[in-house]
Amino acid sequence: MKDKRLEHINISAFQEDLINWYLKNKRHLPWRENNDAYRVWVSEIMLQQTKVDTVIPYFNQFMEKYPTVYDLAEAEQQDVLKQWEGLGYYSRARNLQTAVREVVENYDGKIPDDPKQLGNLKGIGPYTKGAILSIAYNQPIPAVDGNVMRVFSRVLLIDEDIAQASTKKLFESYVGEMISEEDPSSFNQAIMDLGATICTPKQPLCMFCPVMEHCQAYAESVQENLPVKKKAKKQRKEKYIALLIQNQEGKYMIEKRPDTGLLAGLWQFPMIPADDIVPKDWQMWIKDYYGVDVEIKESCTSIKHVFSHIIWNVDVRKAITNQETVQDSRLKFVSLEELKKYPFPVSHQKMIPFLEDN
Ligand code: ADE
Repeated sequence: MKDKRLEHINISAFQEDLINWYLKNKRHLPWRENNDAYRVWVSEIMLQQTKVDTVIPYFNQFMEKYPTVYDLAEAEQQDVLKQWEGLGYYSRARNLQTAVREVVENYDGKIPDDPKQLGNLKGIGPYTKGAILSIAYNQPIPAVDGNVMRVFSRVLLIDEDIAQASTKKLFESYVGEMISEEDPSSFNQAIMDLGATICTPKQPLCMFCPVMEHCQAYAESVQENLPVKKKAKKQRKEKYIALLIQNQEGKYMIEKRPDTGLLAGLWQFPMIPADDIVPKDWQMWIKDYYGVDVEIKESCTSIKHVFSHIIWNVDVRKAITNQETVQDSRLKFVSLEELKKYPFPVSHQKMIPFLEDN
């Protein structure tokens, strides 16, 4: 028996209206210049959690620097992270490079069109897999992200909580029923464009919607109440002291973050957790942990940075040291010029203007 939610919809008319609209109105985006699977892949990874306008310059530069899977496979991880600097969610870049190296090693540089092989590559979940298979290889596979869930929650009047992981599977099964077999590439991209330009989270522009007459939320005037998304847990707050430690040569100390976890592999100014360590112990703690004797000076700014699950409040202080070298290979003294070659998270980039002789 046909699913209740699909009873009211004429799927082939929906596909036709949607795809005709897309073919006339699609956004001209750099990754749409051709269907090359590598370009589609890079763009889809960059577009996760990140807006199209932000991604465009990063995508263009990335493609210039790494035009093929071979160029990316051979690159230094630090250079790839430098290209990604400011985009956030840096594990995307590390996983992408790991997966591209696997494609070069195991698939002769050709991105697999087999769903199983593709889905086994690092960083390729159901969304990215569906996007690559549909856009690059024209296979009718759903690519469901938050925007797609918003569109379908309205078209099919689905009020399940989209913050629940299990809800995504429900949407994947509906999109799987509704996707065009003839032109899955246009179908999936049409939904993405519709979600970005018309079926927006607030005040959707239903009057301009190519599938308005198929939309059950519109028919019942409840489009603004959908999708249902229960509030995420509040972010945990963390306080830090970051130190701009200058030595007598005028160089600054930077440290490499661990290879796993938040901002893995990026560089930063030394930072200590201020929740756990009281000010009178800072100096001693820095000597123990970093092996440098410092004199801590005044606070020059404070920086707040919001991640998806944590909020950092960082008190930034100047400091001086007599040391010119450090033992630990994760620590370096660098000049301002050298410092700019290292990938820094945005929160620490904001400290650079406070360095002397800037
Ligand atoms: N958002 C996610 N993927 C996209 C794509 N390929 N085009 C436009 N917006 C997107």
